Amino acid sequence: MNELLKKYPPAPESLLDILHDLQAAEPRHYLTRDALRAAAEYVDVPLSDVVSTATFYSMYSLSPRGRHIVRVCESPPCQLVGADSLIEILTAHLSVAVGGTTVDGAFTLETTSCLGVCGVAPAMMVDDELYGNLTKEKVLGVIADVRGRDAAS
Ligand code: FES
Repeated sequence: MNELLKKYPPAPESLLDILHDLQAAEPRHYLTRDALRAAAEYVDVPLSDVVSTATFYSMYSLSPRGRHIVRVCESPPCQLVGADSLIEILTAHLSVAVGGTTVDGAFTLETTSCLGVCGVAPAMMVDDELYGNLTKEKVLGVIADVRGRDAAS
């Protein structure tokens, strides 16, 4: 963990990048108590401020998640072109509610605010990959591709 922290200056401005990297390094994609403490000590801010930051941004989680994070944009431009139906399709296909993780631990389904690709709404992000102009078929295809890659590895 220390090597990861040293990539950044030990200053409060580094906190978001540090939290991102600490979460990415955790196989279940969440910030552990040890990670939060280490970040607080490294940037020299109170632990309560670090926890406040981590709970403010939807990209961070304080509880274990699936191996893949599916984030569907629910901001108005995406909602206007069908984001709600995509969420319904995913909850049915994955048998999980928004915020939940599939029984096999493969996917956690989340909603998020604008992903910055409104021109290709509706959009979602799976791990670090963006997908736009989504239809039911495309969404199910993305999930199938991810499952296929997992099976091959
Ligand atoms: S509103 Fe969905 S990507 Fe911007």
